[in-house]
Amino acid sequence: MKKEVEWLLKEKYHGKPTIQFREDTKRLKKGEPLDYVIGFTEFLGCKIDLSKKPLIPRPETEYWVQEAIKKMKSRTSQFLSPSIKVLDIFAGSGCIGISIVAGSESFLQSKNSLPRHIKHAKVTFAEKDKNLLQQIQINCRANKIPKKSYDIVDSDIFSNIKGRYDYIFANPPYIPEVKKNKIQKSVLRYEPVSALFGGKDGLLYIKKFLSGAKHFLNPGGEIYMEFDSTQKKKIEKLLRALAYKNFVFHKDQYGKWRYVVI
Ligand SMILES: C[S@@+](CC[C@H](N)C(=O)[O-])C[C@H]1O[C@@H](n2cnc3c(N)ncnc32)[C@H](O)[C@@H]1O
Repeated sequence: MKKEVEWLLKEKYHGKPTIQFREDTKRLKKGEPLDYVIGFTEFLGCKIDLSKKPLIPRPETEYWVQEAIKKMKSRTSQFLSPSIKVLDIFAGSGCIGISIVAGSESFLQSKNSLPRHIKHAKVTFAEKDKNLLQQIQINCRANKIPKKSYDIVDSDIFSNIKGRYDYIFANPPYIPEVKKNKIQKSVLRYEPVSALFGGKDGLLYIKKFLSGAKHFLNPGGEIYMEFDSTQKKKIEKLLRALAYKNFVFHKDQYGKWRYVVI
């Protein structure tokens, strides 16, 4: 707790212990996650506002998105395509898509002209929760993403998505409900339930997503999807049943199966 209070004082109050700071320490003591109390977090160098209480971006997600960006960069130098279309579905705070079109300087130096992670990318953010559509807008503005580089779609998975994409990134709600008692109390109490659970076995949204995704992918395109480490075998079976041919499973920085590239 001491470390969290110190961090709060440094990050939000620049070392000045105001009355509001004391109120915030009470929130921390009640168990509210530090990132919500600070009001933002960092994701691959981008400032991600959390005022609408989206899922707090996780380091595991940051890890695979960074891997994806590295691979995209090496592929895009071969691509002569004038623009790369990216779909960030189950977007939440928008952290994934934002880190693709923004650059690290957006947070660290707030420059006006940003070196982008991926030049020429246009991101479509898709999210069902109306509050979070606003959250994505806040985050795009905060990271100075030009209007022409993104759009935000109110969509129940693919219901309002049109066209095809070169990259689809998905971090669906995938925690199995049977694992509820293993989840940290503060997560259950403060983070949105609709971002966490995917039915009894956690595969409810994964199944819906994978059934639709191939119809929204350009030839040669790639899908990145995060999942719970226990779901690998079932997802492999599902991918075969849905006639996906090329896919590779990957572990996260902690050595757990965490994402698949299709
Ligand atoms: C695990 S969170 C991922 C958020 C963010 N992409 C990240 O990685 O931090 C899943 C998100 O999916 C959204 N969601 C849940 N059901 C959905 C649905 N049927 N269609 C679209 N989005 C949905 C939730 O509101 C939540 O923001």
